[in-house]
Amino acid sequence: MKKKLKLGLFGFGCVGQGLYHVLHETHGVKAEIKKICVKSHDKKRPIDASFFTWNPSDILNDPEIDVVVELIDDAHAAFKIVKTALENGKHVVTANKKMLAEHLQEIYDLQQKYDRSVLYEGAVCGSIPILRNLEEYYDNDMITSIEGIFNGSTNYILTKVFEERQSYIEALKAAQDLGFAESDPSLDVEGYDPKFKLTIAIAHTFGVFVKPENIINVGIQKISAVDLKYARENNLTIKLVARAYKINGNIYGFVAPQFIPADHMLANVRNEYNAVLVEGAFAEKQVFIGKGAGSYPTGSAVLSDISALTFDYRYEYKKFTQGDALPFSNNAFVDVIVSFPDGTLISNRDFESFKGGYQGKGYQYLQGTVSLERLKEWSQWDDVSVILAPILNLTGANQIQNTERLSA
Ligand SMILES: NC(=O)c1ccc[n+]([C@@H]2O[C@H](COP(=O)([O-])OP(=O)(O)OC[C@H]3O[C@@H](n4cnc5c(N)ncnc54)[C@H](OP(=O)(O)O)[C@@H]3O)[C@@H](O)[C@H]2O)c1
Repeated sequence: MKKKLKLGLFGFGCVGQGLYHVLHETHGVKAEIKKICVKSHDKKRPIDASFFTWNPSDILNDPEIDVVVELIDDAHAAFKIVKTALENGKHVVTANKKMLAEHLQEIYDLQQKYDRSVLYEGAVCGSIPILRNLEEYYDNDMITSIEGIFNGSTNYILTKVFEERQSYIEALKAAQDLGFAESDPSLDVEGYDPKFKLTIAIAHTFGVFVKPENIINVGIQKISAVDLKYARENNLTIKLVARAYKINGNIYGFVAPQFIPADHMLANVRNEYNAVLVEGAFAEKQVFIGKGAGSYPTGSAVLSDISALTFDYRYEYKKFTQGDALPFSNNAFVDVIVSFPDGTLISNRDFESFKGGYQGKGYQYLQGTVSLERLKEWSQWDDVSVILAPILNLTGANQIQNTERLSA
């Protein structure tokens, strides 16, 4: 017999209201919202005022509340809420990828210490049920890679800029109006948000807790009209891809934009849709596609976690507890295409191996293999745009001078 859960909700913005809606539209989930804690006193709320409080303790210290649902946009405050909730014997559901990525090991330890569950499917690729699949379905499969489009708002922006020739600013504004963008949009466009999701995915895929600051992220903010023209002329599109691989005893992971051939699985993942490609030694390649952002899609993932708590579900972090976790490394090479105005200090000698390039209309294009560190360095230079070369072989890897080569 499923229990009826009493929920204390933090945050009533895009996702909080989405959860409220989907909870009231479905009849199968035995849960009801008792209180909602918000920040601002003077905002007009779409539901009865009696639901709301501004005092976290009205939820955290209410013995009747079984589950704290944390849906606020402040990672620092969110961690305090999650920690106190666990200390007070409550289960937690959260969609806060920044908070999770920054504190994942600690949150794992707190779950063990207080024997309570923290579920966070909505934090990774919105409505796509990837974490529970990684935990349960792929338990015995040897996963070799996980990669894909992990950020709905940048995918929306890239789609509008590429297909409808909207300006970057116009497309970002539309993504914000539709509720896909983070409150701080630099988290999306600079590739931090997909990096946070990748951090969480790496823990559930490979059993490794990596600090997000150790994962390289390159965003879409430097992609220029010249890059878009290059893509159109070569039957390519551009996607922001998060990826992690297990190769020769190491785990590698990074986020960067990539030229994607028109016939590649990721090419037709458009707008706010996300896609996750999982490759296993036995199951081989599988793809999950779904809405990665937005009020109802994310609300439905949060609801699914609440539903899972009615039958006492918890993540077992099996790949971590199995104890054969591999080290995380950035010591890898990738193929890139770098574009920059004439006079910028990049030459063919800066590549590990140089493949070619051309010059025209005050711009230069160079293609070749560089280290991940060099990719990161160039991505921080003014006027330089660095994009991974089209995918030729998703899993291929060769040993070069004791360093891994990821074939991008
Ligand atoms: N939007 C998406 O598509 C999406 C998808 C996946 C995950 N997420 C994650 O879900 C979370 C919420 O995102 P959102 O888009 O719903 O944000 P949002 O629309 O900006 O809403 C944030 C809510 O949090 C409340 N809040 C902020 N600080 C608070 C505090 N210290 N105590 C209590 N309430 C506080 C705000 O209160 P007021 O109403 O008083 O301002 C507001 O109701 C974030 O972690 C985000 O990364 C979002």
